[in-house]
Amino acid sequence: MADERLIVALDFHHFGDVKKLVTELGDSVKFYKVGMELFYSVGTDVLDWLKSLDKKIFLDLKLCDIPNTTANGLCSLMNLGADIMNIHATGGFTMMKTAADKLREESARLGIAKPKLIAVTILTSINQSDWEGLGYGATEISAQVVRLAKLAKSAGVDGVVASPQEAKLIRENCGDDFLIITPGIRPAGADINDQSRISTPAAALKNGANYLVIGRPITKAENPKDAAQKILAEIKGI
Ligand code: C5P
Repeated sequence: MADERLIVALDFHHFGDVKKLVTELGDSVKFYKVGMELFYSVGTDVLDWLKSLDKKIFLDLKLCDIPNTTANGLCSLMNLGADIMNIHATGGFTMMKTAADKLREESARLGIAKPKLIAVTILTSINQSDWEGLGYGATEISAQVVRLAKLAKSAGVDGVVASPQEAKLIRENCGDDFLIITPGIRPAGADINDQSRISTPAAALKNGANYLVIGRPITKAENPKDAAQKILAEIKGI
């Protein structure tokens, strides 16, 4: 059975590229992330197609709006059958709590499994100079990430997206009953692209991550299946 801790990011414009990659990866990958690039160009068909192959889906649209709009937007998306959906923690406690409560109520009303609701803390691409530009200079990024993770947990959100470098701190502060999804994963020697706060797949899991979101190290590899299998071998048994 495929290791569901690996989520491959389908950052493509064209459905044809998705079909090619998912078919090539076959049974080795069960979980896929559909983000803005793909959803805004292809729409809901891609989710139907992945579901028809019995794949799991993380719908990564990072909603951030006023509480009512975010909560209702999530309820509209819930009908698409994703297993994980997300919002920005910087939308604040009231937004996160309204979204979490509404999703719980609405899934119970419809009699369907509630998708996990995850909050993005601080994007893994934010580096120290971006951080200072945002005016948070005096606060450590990691301290802010932990603060947002605790806020998300108290609002009833199921977990967070965070850099693998912050996973350990989040685990220590938020306990075991809280999901940590880490993008910014780079196998040793891989191109870091536009990411900043990165780590290897094994290190991220050892530090407490539940899921690894990996895009370009697999999707842009000469042989994606080989790249995925190397990562799966690296994390086996951790
Ligand atoms: O190609 P790469 O492995 O960098 O892809 C990482 C994926 O994770 C991208 O789809 C990106 O949007 C997403 N992501 C991220 N950092 C976050 C949240 C999501 O890199 N904080």
